[in-house]
Amino acid sequence: MSSGHHWATAFAPASVGNVAIGFDILGFAVEALGDRVTVSRTEARGVTITDITGVAGGLPTDPARNTAGRALLAMQEALQPGFGFAMRIDKGIALGSGLGGSAASAVGAVVAANALLPQPCSKLELLKFAMQGEAVASGSLHVDNIAPSLFGGLVLTVGIDHPRVKQIPVPEGIRAVIAHPQMFLSTRQARAILKRSVELSDFVWQTANLAGFISGCYTNDLDMIRASFEDVVIEPQRQALIPRFQEVRMAAMRAGALGCSISGAGPALFAWALAKDAHGVLEAMRHEFTAASIRIDEWLVDLKAQGAQVIETG
Ligand code: HSE
Repeated sequence: MSSGHHWATAFAPASVGNVAIGFDILGFAVEALGDRVTVSRTEARGVTITDITGVAGGLPTDPARNTAGRALLAMQEALQPGFGFAMRIDKGIALGSGLGGSAASAVGAVVAANALLPQPCSKLELLKFAMQGEAVASGSLHVDNIAPSLFGGLVLTVGIDHPRVKQIPVPEGIRAVIAHPQMFLSTRQARAILKRSVELSDFVWQTANLAGFISGCYTNDLDMIRASFEDVVIEPQRQALIPRFQEVRMAAMRAGALGCSISGAGPALFAWALAKDAHGVLEAMRHEFTAASIRIDEWLVDLKAQGAQVIETG
């Protein structure tokens, strides 16, 4: 039995995750770019990847080694739908950009496959399948890209085995600026360099900042958001991996950003700014990158992006 559809295509947005102080738990969706995944029913059980097109060449088509493939294998194993999945992935997010490309492929895959099932899964169930896929790319189970790509908006996820997802309201008028220097940075590498322990004083500072940031979002307190928009644990360790990081960050802050940090594992950077300042912040960031002959892709987006959607069925 199936839903009656033979195939479905889903669009899954990119994401910024971590959002600075919320390492591995806080991210927001970015609808301006994303992956399109088409999943078709096959008589034969199992998962095949028939084609990968778009901006990320060289990805494995062995489903066990591919983020989207692994997510669908997890889904097959858990649900035993009685038919198989063949998948095409059209990548809109560059590999190793820090913009949640592997998560978007995994999310797109499970959302498209879900449209073929007689009894669709809840988003929380899909989240768990997609997490299995993300682990292939980064070497660990984390949800800060998966959850916003699936649910949309700014999302906090608590827990791994039994994740709880909370969409956090963002004050009106805040925009996100994203600048992606055109280089590849391996998430695995950017995770491998991180120290395994944290100084007590940094722990206190970081938890205060995360609490301040989230309470600032709930209470429209821009001053609190600005004051707490500082990652004192991960960013200092990773910044050396990103050329011009400090110059770009400081230029964004001088131009009026509420905060500026690394998007995910980098090398993309993101800033939040009020709408009136956002263009200036983007120009300032671009200026610092191009002064060092670093070409960037750039986006200026709102923080109310939808999560992944089925966009076509047949
Ligand atoms: N939270 C992850 C990290 C995102 O910063 O390593 C990368 O996918």
